[in-house]
Amino acid sequence: MRKFAVINVAAIDQSTNDVSILFIFSPQEYDGGYAYFGPNSYNNLSKAVPWAQWLTDPDPTHARVERAVMPMQAYAWTLLNTSTPWSVKFDSSGAYARHLVRFSVSGLPEAADLRVELDGEDLGWTPRADIGLDRYHYDVHRDGGLSAGEHTLSFTLLNGAREPAAQMCSAEVLEFGDESEFVATPGHYSLYPTFSLDNQTPYRPTNEDCLMRQVTTPNFCKACIEGLWLALLRNVSLIDDIDASSVADLGESYTVTWRKDGQAIDKFTNSTEGEVGSGQYAIEVQYATNEVRVDRDDRLKA
Ligand SMILES: *[C@@H]1O[C@H](CO)[C@@H](O)[C@H](O)[C@H]1NC(C)=O
Ligand SMILES: *[C@@H]1O[C@H](CO)[C@@H](O)[C@H](O)[C@H]1NC(C)=O
Ligand SMILES: *[C@@H]1O[C@H](CO)[C@@H](O)[C@H](O)[C@H]1NC(C)=O
Ligand SMILES: *[C@@H]1O[C@H](CO)[C@@H](O)[C@H](O)[C@H]1NC(C)=O
Repeated sequence: MRKFAVINVAAIDQSTNDVSILFIFSPQEYDGGYAYFGPNSYNNLSKAVPWAQWLTDPDPTHARVERAVMPMQAYAWTLLNTSTPWSVKFDSSGAYARHLVRFSVSGLPEAADLRVELDGEDLGWTPRADIGLDRYHYDVHRDGGLSAGEHTLSFTLLNGAREPAAQMCSAEVLEFGDESEFVATPGHYSLYPTFSLDNQTPYRPTNEDCLMRQVTTPNFCKACIEGLWLALLRNVSLIDDIDASSVADLGESYTVTWRKDGQAIDKFTNSTEGEVGSGQYAIEVQYATNEVRVDRDDRLKA
């Protein structure tokens, strides 16, 4: 159940043409896991929010937990057959305005292969185009709350020719408050509860904006990107790797300060070359990118 985000950074050393690759591990935000830590995870509401600098409402006293609950999650990893559907029962409190049925299946390339039903109602599943036999993740968002009481989610294999490849991998139901209680809008940064394997609820920064939440999402959220920068810069020297001419348009800059015997030499500010006499010289590089707002350990400075 672990998911790893692997960021490959190939830094070409000009002198040797060696390519070094850094692998950075970023922690998960999806439900049903256990490894919740790092810049995108928060689990104690009495402490400062790690992504306070990205919250849509920058007033930390307004930080609130978006209202959601997870009445069912199942990691079945079971082969489907045509004799008996795979099904699961769960209870709803009936206290939420909207719900989502999220599931993943594999070995089912055609819409006619499978029927997914909630309380006997066909959810209209169709496979992602060209998915073939691969596993894929599906979300069925439904307006209106689930009624209080028991519900049944079922997966019926319709095409016997798909045995034994057809697999029901995972299923989950999430319930949400209305838009005033749970902001589902992309780009909204808040405290979103994540439901771990034992239904602990750490919080994540966005609803579904991050690859660490949803493998079908192409990008990381801002809190993760900032964390990746800071993790990368633990081991990359700015002076070796940044080229001012190519980064000028990207909301990035660097400030170069030269000092002789501790005194700034103003005429060399931002120069990468300078002719110097005798004395003790120091050069400081401060990198700035709009993707990093907080840099407690001065990793953007060399
Ligand atoms: C949450 O943080 C507060 C303040 O730092 C601390 O007193 C408390 O013990 C923490 N709670 C847990 C469950 O770690
Ligand atoms: C068919 O699938 C159901 C649901 O997963 C399971 O309970 C049953 O054992 C399976 N039957 C066979 C013959 O594999
Ligand atoms: C990266 O930096 C950390 C912290 O300074 C250090 O412990 C680690 O050995 C470094 N790794 C590499 C590959 O240089
Ligand atoms: C040096 O570069 C920084 C970043 O681009 C800029 O803000 C600053 O004004 C520059 N200073 C001078 C003296 O050109």
